[in-house]
Amino acid sequence: MSYLPLFETGKTIQAEFSPDADIVLYQGDTEDFIKSLPDESVKLIITSPPYNLGKAYETRVSVEKYLADQSRTIAKLYRILHPQGSICWQVGNFVEKGEVFPLDIYYYPIFKEMGLYLRNRIIWHFGHGLHTKKRFSGRYETILWFTKGKEYTFNLDPVRIPSKYPGKRHYKGPNKGKLSGNPKGKNPSDVWEGLLSEWDECFWEIPNVKSNHPEKTIHPCQFPIELVERFVLALTDEGDRVFDPYTGVGSALIAAIKRNRIALGSEREAEYVAIARERIQAYFEGTLRVRPLGKPIHKPTGREKVAQIPPEWQTTEQPRLLEEKGKYE
Ligand SMILES: C[S@@+](CC[C@H](N)C(=O)[O-])C[C@H]1O[C@@H](n2cnc3c(N)ncnc32)[C@H](O)[C@@H]1O
Repeated sequence: MSYLPLFETGKTIQAEFSPDADIVLYQGDTEDFIKSLPDESVKLIITSPPYNLGKAYETRVSVEKYLADQSRTIAKLYRILHPQGSICWQVGNFVEKGEVFPLDIYYYPIFKEMGLYLRNRIIWHFGHGLHTKKRFSGRYETILWFTKGKEYTFNLDPVRIPSKYPGKRHYKGPNKGKLSGNPKGKNPSDVWEGLLSEWDECFWEIPNVKSNHPEKTIHPCQFPIELVERFVLALTDEGDRVFDPYTGVGSALIAAIKRNRIALGSEREAEYVAIARERIQAYFEGTLRVRPLGKPIHKPTGREKVAQIPPEWQTTEQPRLLEEKGKYE
């Protein structure tokens, strides 16, 4: 891939919306930015909204107040969504005093009452996170994908993944003996699985962006670019507008730019906007560290020192657990 500095591409990062802008990065409240966007002008709205979890950028409020605020913003987003467009809302759980409130369950009626149609509830599974003591450790978040209408853009071919059994054939009926799969690959499903070298794995894990990930910045909960890229490819065409109302450090904008879409974003914190700007510039210069779409995840072989049972644990339950696990692999 050849990279050109931003100025040589003829593109600029604009601070306000204009109809011919290629990239807009607005610093301020998202509702103010939405006001400047024309009706039905955005093909894909994709975001991970503030979670009300009391992160650095958040003031913790009641769940009721949080949802009322979000529902007001979502109504404004509805106005700017293209008739064949989609909204993808990525959320996890709100946890209070050990009680789990799954946010997608709270969000569903908000979108549904607005007349949107749910197309998938995607499970985004990741391998690492907090180890909880009084419940099972959480290892997934969800993405609600809604469309505005019954007709909508959906391009399956660019996001197909390799078939698990490409040599499988029909064993009866008129197609007996013919290959049963699609040579273009298979549908990645709503639990995103099927990395190139991981045909036999249960889950396709796009690693959560944590400290050893090549894309990590100072933002506490950043999107992996490849997660958004998959939606951009499937739910928009080249030249369409993609908007992340809660841009953070600009991961969704980079995914859109990478795939020749128009990228729009609004973010309240000046510090994150500055990083988003630097990351976009670095992308054009070819210096941004991005985990490529579909790159296999590192899986321990079992031979690494950290994957072996340490001497101190030889007399614990660990050896038996490992042996049991081996029986089923
Ligand atoms: C979960 S983070 C999004 C991270 C983003 N997906 C990324 O990859 O960096 C939510 C972001 O929304 C921003 N935010 C919260 N309320 C906002 C508002 N009313 N308008 C604009 N941005 C807001 C926060 O500062 C935070 O960076």
